[in-house]
Amino acid sequence: MTDKSATLTFDNKQVELPILSGSEGPDVIDIRKLYSQGNVFTYDPGFTSTAACDSAITYIDGDAGELWHRGYPIDQLAEKSHFLEMCYLLLYGDLPDAAQLEHFETTVTRHTMIHEQMHMFFRGFRRDAHPMATMVGVVGAMSAFYHDSTDISDPRQREIASFRLIAKMPTIAAMAYKYSIGQPFVYPANSLSYAANFLRMCFAVPAEDYVVNPVLERAMDRIFMLHADHEQNASTSTVRLASSSGANPFACIAAGIACLWGPAHGGANQAALEMLREIGTVENIPDYIEQTKDKTSGKRLMGFGHRVYKNFDPRAKVMKQSADEVLELLGIHNNPTLQVAKELERIALEDEYFISKKLYPNVDFYSGIILEAMGFPTSMFTPIFAVARTVGWISQWQEMISDPQMKIGRPRQLYTGPGRRDYVDVERR
Ligand code: CMC
Repeated sequence: MTDKSATLTFDNKQVELPILSGSEGPDVIDIRKLYSQGNVFTYDPGFTSTAACDSAITYIDGDAGELWHRGYPIDQLAEKSHFLEMCYLLLYGDLPDAAQLEHFETTVTRHTMIHEQMHMFFRGFRRDAHPMATMVGVVGAMSAFYHDSTDISDPRQREIASFRLIAKMPTIAAMAYKYSIGQPFVYPANSLSYAANFLRMCFAVPAEDYVVNPVLERAMDRIFMLHADHEQNASTSTVRLASSSGANPFACIAAGIACLWGPAHGGANQAALEMLREIGTVENIPDYIEQTKDKTSGKRLMGFGHRVYKNFDPRAKVMKQSADEVLELLGIHNNPTLQVAKELERIALEDEYFISKKLYPNVDFYSGIILEAMGFPTSMFTPIFAVARTVGWISQWQEMISDPQMKIGRPRQLYTGPGRRDYVDVERR
């Protein structure tokens, strides 16, 4: 809070609006009383200048390329922490001590299996269903299986729903994948880390032993960490809006997954790799880049640009390093898709159009490269993002529900439709 205020003058009226300060970042003009005092709304489709809530979870400084979770910079977390520790940090606000961490890991890990009857639910999908389609349906269906954790007014039930979602999401994503390729489901192995268990559930088959490569396990864990939360992005805002009506957590997270699927958001990693394949060879890059500058082409350089980061995406920096490690380990040097990716990155970073519009490779540009090298099909890229982002959605949901000032989200509009008119019977139209 500050004692600063802004005065809005219009139509011979003056409205005094308080200015609020957070711990970091720009101040906000508090317009909550604007309508009652001035009879006007504000207009900001796309929320480019609007803070929709206050939050103590994640801070982004887009100009400086900074991303902090609960104050800790993402590069330090990515180097020193691991995904489940980060989940604790996001959910509870501080890093755990050793006993808290062990207790948390054991608790989450004990929820990795899904109700056996849910297996039948999977079988209702077409065998070639996109894993995201399956995930939206199955996660929404969790509210039909876990009734004892849907009372959002009970903090203990909220906590159990949080554990269930974090623990079961990799199982559901891996099952959606296995179903889409016609292989048997692989049950979780609780002796493995979160990342190793996920790799095993995706790649193991009953006919052979599967040993998780520690470099790939670390790279997977980093992908989860780098996607864990990103303050009020589209899918998180969707989860908050859905939850603001009091809907149960499983339904709200299903809404978040649906929003994440779009190519401007979590679907960008799939779109980026498909674009690299479409370009095909290094010689085709200049022509493709020209098309992305032409607004009538409908093409964008996927994996480039960000609403908030206008300098660089700090997650992309760590992801690029991880990509190099994975490609080195797997001995992949001549893969044509990866050659196109490297050359595209080089050319775009020197191109005046991309420089002047501050368009840099984002996290999805490199995560697609790593996931492709690990053997994931493009259809699994966004489900993996959903697995990682679940903890962010849940932490933001918990924060919102615990706030006594929570209100249903209900935006207003600038109406541009017809004025009042009278109904005309069909024979007279
Ligand atoms: N390729 C070509 N031109 C672009 C691109 C791009 N990837 N991104 C933005 N522009 C241009 C855009 O045409 C516009 O030009 P002008 O000012 O001449 O009209 C200008 O840059 C600003 O674009 P905008 O659409 O107003 O910017 P935004 O902040 O609304 O969009 C974005 C951000 C991420 C949706 C956009 O950059 C984009 O579509 N990128 C490609 C998709 C992508 O990689 N998304 C993943 C984002 S990171 C992960 C996540 O958050 O899910």
